[in-house]
Amino acid sequence: MKLRQRPRRLRGNEVLRKMVRETRISRESLVYPMFVMDGADKVEEIASLPGQYRYTVDRMGEEISRLESVGINKVMLFGIPEVKDEIGSQAYAQDGVIQRALEYLKEEHPYMYRITDVCMCEYTSHGHCGVLKDNDVDNDETLKLLARTAVSHVKAGAQMVAPSDMMDGRIAAIREALDEEGFAEVPIMSYSVKYASAFYGPFRDAAGSAPAFGNRKSYQMDYHNRREALKEAMLDVSEGADIIMVKPAMSYLDLVREIHDNTNIPIAAYSVSGEYAMVKAAAQRGWINETEVVYEMAASAFRAGADIYITYYAKEIAEYLKGEWIG
Ligand code: PBG
Repeated sequence: MKLRQRPRRLRGNEVLRKMVRETRISRESLVYPMFVMDGADKVEEIASLPGQYRYTVDRMGEEISRLESVGINKVMLFGIPEVKDEIGSQAYAQDGVIQRALEYLKEEHPYMYRITDVCMCEYTSHGHCGVLKDNDVDNDETLKLLARTAVSHVKAGAQMVAPSDMMDGRIAAIREALDEEGFAEVPIMSYSVKYASAFYGPFRDAAGSAPAFGNRKSYQMDYHNRREALKEAMLDVSEGADIIMVKPAMSYLDLVREIHDNTNIPIAAYSVSGEYAMVKAAAQRGWINETEVVYEMAASAFRAGADIYITYYAKEIAEYLKGEWIG
């Protein structure tokens, strides 16, 4: 058979395959999400996320050291306060759990880059992502508290803030507040394209943040929509977002590509708790090869156009990458 083009020519061995590889993954692109809780001397495994833990501030160093040992130098922090109230006051309290975690990290692990999730749902007694009015989240009142939370995080040592609430205008509100406080250089990674997704189930167990009534569909996006994702992303760019996030990752890679092709700022894909839980559960039963599946998921996010991958599997991917050159 006379064939000019034989695609298999470039797949003949590992050296060749890696030479022509289109997507390269590096640990610099990975961010590890981490849960920090009030209290002292406690580490609790999260039932629906085996291998993931909640740490009190005095114990979080154990995990940070493990991350450092595999070369992961970026964390995104989620706080779990002891006391929740209607207005989520622990989100912006000076001695709140995130604020203390930031101070600890800045002091003890200065090379760990500090990103914080900015939202109200872990801090409100009703579990919604803002303050309520007539059983729905009051958008504009919530903006004030989000801006206050972001400023208090940065004052405590956050190097980047990541608002995940999905209120309209939050990027503008946070940008303005940060600028006023003299933090014009602190970047915002916006959860711009965040869908109302059942994939967040295990996270809500972990943070005790499931809404006490209703759901989040009046603020998070409807997953049937694609063009709306671009609308959200463009709005956030115009309001001053520096990085755009798409969340969840795996079922939403079409949006990663869409946003990648239509904007000129970095894109983050967040592989959420439900993605981790599914892989873990199947792996525990011996039904899939965990390492291979995790790496394949990561590669697909980068192939889709992500520059940053936020994942509970950051350490495992970093370990995998260490061995890569041998294979
Ligand atoms: C807070 C927030 C959530 C997640 C990240 N930030 C939960 C939610 O919106 O219900 C989910 C992360 C995950 O599932 O891993 N709003």
